[in-house]
Amino acid sequence: MLSVLVFVAAFVLSPLSFAHPLSHHALSCADIRLPHIPGAKVIDVQYDEKRNHTVPETLPFLPETVSGLNICEVIVTLSHPGANDKVSVQVWLPIGTWNGRFVGTGGQGWAAGLGDLALAPFAAEGFAVASTDAGLPYNPESPQAWALDTSGHVNIGLLTNFASRSVHDLAVVGKAVTASYYKNAANHSYWYGCSTGGRQGLVEAQKYPDDFDGILAGAPAIYWPEYVVAELWPQAVMNEAQVYPSQCELKWFTQTAIDACDELDGVKDGIINDPSKCKYNPSTAVGSKIKCDGKTTTVSTEVAEIVRKIWEGPGSLYGLPRWSGLTLGAPLDSLANTTVSHGTHVGNTFFVPEGWIRYFVEADPDFDFSKVGYKDFDYIFQRSVAKYESLIGSDNPNLSGFQKSNGKLLMWHGLSDQLIFPQDSARYYQEVDKYGGRSSNVDDYLRLFLAPGVDHCGAGTTPGAIPSDPFGALISWVENGTAPEALSAVTPATAREQFTRKICRYPLVEKYRGHGKVDSAESFDCVEECEA
Ligand SMILES: *[C@@H]1O[C@H](CO)[C@@H](O)[C@H](O)[C@H]1NC(C)=O
Ligand SMILES: *[C@@H]1O[C@H](CO)[C@@H](O)[C@H](O)[C@H]1NC(C)=O
Ligand SMILES: *[C@@H]1O[C@H](CO)[C@@H](O)[C@H](O)[C@H]1NC(C)=O
Ligand SMILES: *[C@@H]1O[C@H](CO)[C@@H](O)[C@H](O)[C@H]1NC(C)=O
Ligand SMILES: *[C@@H]1O[C@H](CO)[C@@H](O)[C@H](O)[C@H]1NC(C)=O
Repeated sequence: MLSVLVFVAAFVLSPLSFAHPLSHHALSCADIRLPHIPGAKVIDVQYDEKRNHTVPETLPFLPETVSGLNICEVIVTLSHPGANDKVSVQVWLPIGTWNGRFVGTGGQGWAAGLGDLALAPFAAEGFAVASTDAGLPYNPESPQAWALDTSGHVNIGLLTNFASRSVHDLAVVGKAVTASYYKNAANHSYWYGCSTGGRQGLVEAQKYPDDFDGILAGAPAIYWPEYVVAELWPQAVMNEAQVYPSQCELKWFTQTAIDACDELDGVKDGIINDPSKCKYNPSTAVGSKIKCDGKTTTVSTEVAEIVRKIWEGPGSLYGLPRWSGLTLGAPLDSLANTTVSHGTHVGNTFFVPEGWIRYFVEADPDFDFSKVGYKDFDYIFQRSVAKYESLIGSDNPNLSGFQKSNGKLLMWHGLSDQLIFPQDSARYYQEVDKYGGRSSNVDDYLRLFLAPGVDHCGAGTTPGAIPSDPFGALISWVENGTAPEALSAVTPATAREQFTRKICRYPLVEKYRGHGKVDSAESFDCVEECEA
């Protein structure tokens, strides 16, 4: 009965009062017409009006508690015929405070979406916002619960959801629910994601170019079949040598490289501006005495060789597939993780390559990583690419559809990313540029920002200045036509040295003017590389 009244009321309101935020109070959470979702069937819809709602701080994804939310929550459950899946799309609609925008939010690691943790900050700012689980049990650290079906075969339906299908469902459902609730389509639609979420954003630009006006893709997990196997490279190097350096030794090498190359850019700030220019050679450290765990250790030839190979990445030198290595300055603790077990150092495989290789490439839950040397690495890499490139590569450089629909794609990546290689983002930018050819100016629809000294998704464990508001820059680009030249950035509160910087639009680099405070972005310009 109530929903009928609201329906009638919507028709008698004048257009003027209709646009007034107060009219939102008349809307009912349950009065939502569902969209047609191509290739999927809606199996359930849940509505819930939440008043003064709180989402408590949950590290690492939600650093601060969000409270006082007044939202209408709509959860749409759908299934793709033949996939035997049950996908949930969760939409939060701010009551009375809508800013006219819709945002789709992405996942991290093995999760396609972060649910409440991603929705809360956006809803608090007045955005209609959505997240999807892609039909996967939530676990950012492992795909174990869904990767294989009951007969031990790779669950291609769910992998397809994780790779691309569910991102589009989220866009279709989220935008339709938003339009139905507010009786007005969103003025602008955006994507917000980092890591897996960054990859999902690029998939949208490539495959569903009309879904979003603006896409923010941080540290995107693109070239997935290649880069995820390349994440195993440091462990393969240590296995091959049968030498597992301590984390203290590895940390020493990272800091020594930073000290050696810090001032190449003319400023001593504990940051290597362009790691590709840093020619620090680990073999020069052989024989150095370093203090580790209260003891003095001498750097050996073997350990120096391991560090050199990790930085170089797998390459033609070894007759192996060529891929990016970790940048100088990136922490080695994740991909070259070692711990002490029964008195000796052992290697630990990072959970993304572990889950990928164990379940999807090998389909062997008992796969033993401790034996993977160069030969196995080569074999795994080739198989990963052959089996999955078309399914989850997420690296199609053809963005002509996105360009045509006047979309804007803002990519950014930390240059000390310890998990996903920033060189791969630069590679994708160059591939898009090349694909577009002379007739298209890539900077009209794609801009990339590489942030010196910043870790994965700007978590703040490294000393670089982190872009403060790349999403705001994207909104200005879309709604105001202000294409970002540089992102303003500030060091994390935990950093020893505090400063602000400009993160320049690739391929420009930041250069100190030679005068002025070095802790202020005002003393820097974005210049062409050759002048730097
Ligand atoms: C909202 O919830 C908080 C607790 O999170 C409570 O202290 C406050 O009184 C509530 N406000 C209203 C208007 O109910
Ligand atoms: C959407 O855009 C129109 C036209 O610019 C504007 O009048 C309206 O206020 C916007 N809607 C919201 C909810 O901001
Ligand atoms: C290193 O491996 C250990 C043991 O698996 C794990 O507890 C730790 O979190 C890992 N460290 C990093 C930085 O990934
Ligand atoms: C590139 O993408 C556009 C738009 O999606 C499509 O029409 C065109 O066929 C694609 N080009 C190639 C070579 O696949
Ligand atoms: C909008 O663009 C103008 C210049 O075209 C600029 O001065 C202004 O700061 C921009 N506003 C926002 C919010 O981006």
